[in-house]
Amino acid sequence: MARALVTGSTSGLGLEFAWQLAGTGHDLVLVSRDQDRLGAVAEQIRDVHKVTVEVLAADLSDRPQLERVAIRLTDPVERVDLLVNNAGYGLRGGFLEVGVDDHEKQMDTLMKAVLVLSHAAARTMVQRRKGAILNVSSLAGYTTAGPYAASKSWVTVFTESLAMELKGTGVTATALLPGFVQTEFHERASMSVDGLPRITWLKAPYVVEQALKDTAKGNVLSIPSVKYRTASEFSRIAPRPLIRALTSPDWYRRMQSRTVKRSLRKASRRNLHAPWQREDEA
Ligand SMILES: NC(=O)c1ccc[n+]([C@@H]2O[C@H](COP(=O)([O-])OP(=O)(O)OC[C@H]3O[C@@H](n4cnc5c(N)ncnc54)[C@H](OP(=O)(O)O)[C@@H]3O)[C@@H](O)[C@H]2O)c1
Repeated sequence: MARALVTGSTSGLGLEFAWQLAGTGHDLVLVSRDQDRLGAVAEQIRDVHKVTVEVLAADLSDRPQLERVAIRLTDPVERVDLLVNNAGYGLRGGFLEVGVDDHEKQMDTLMKAVLVLSHAAARTMVQRRKGAILNVSSLAGYTTAGPYAASKSWVTVFTESLAMELKGTGVTATALLPGFVQTEFHERASMSVDGLPRITWLKAPYVVEQALKDTAKGNVLSIPSVKYRTASEFSRIAPRPLIRALTSPDWYRRMQSRTVKRSLRKASRRNLHAPWQREDEA
């Protein structure tokens, strides 16, 4: 029987991955921070699907805890055949409004954890000449919507390069790039998504089903739904200034703020040096 390790498996896409994988006979290792919630999910899945479910409570932004997950991936006996790097979250507010510690923690979860766990899994899987890695990225990675978007851009490029490096080893790497999906993601980040039209939303079961199909085929990129595949093509061919104008809400919001307007007025009056060359703005 195959075994999958899924990070971020207490809600949203990760929870759905856990259920669908158990439904196709996979044993599971579930990783998230919330021990109680993990335990409850494990119990329900065991009851319904009669598979073995281990739980590993870990905050992936913490290096020692991340290491415990990496070590689990290298177990030569209780082998993991599929790694799903899914855990992630958004932060509310522009780059300057959020403390740098919070940014670092988020980057550690979204990028460092993916790097470390992919490394552990790929090395072990290559020895067995069998296995798959599925990294949950985002179409946001094609936009300019802050550090989150930049980190997802990293996940996509990293996964594409890993897939090339793994060619011929029997191990595959796939990046999943969803658009908006109905999960706890936006609520947890206190992001207002009320204004988004219904058509923009995808449902987690559909996204996960498509992602697992693409992973089984060894596809490098998985972009569920025609509408989001079209959007991704548009974002690739559109001029970057247009992408920036369309997808930088925080930048736009700050441009509206009085502080920035004031400094822009000053800059345009002086118009001699770039702002960073001036000695004193007081
Ligand atoms: N929803 C969307 O519209 C959307 C679109 C594109 C991409 N994505 C990506 O999809 C992935 C899953 O998000 P989701 O939408 O399913 O959100 P979600 O419902 O909020 O689930 C996020 C999961 O990640 C876990 N998690 C968060 N930080 C963690 C950490 N430091 N260590 C371990 N586990 C952590 C959470 O569990 P605990 O709180 O128990 O730790 C939870 O299980 C993320 O990578 C997200 O960036 C989402």
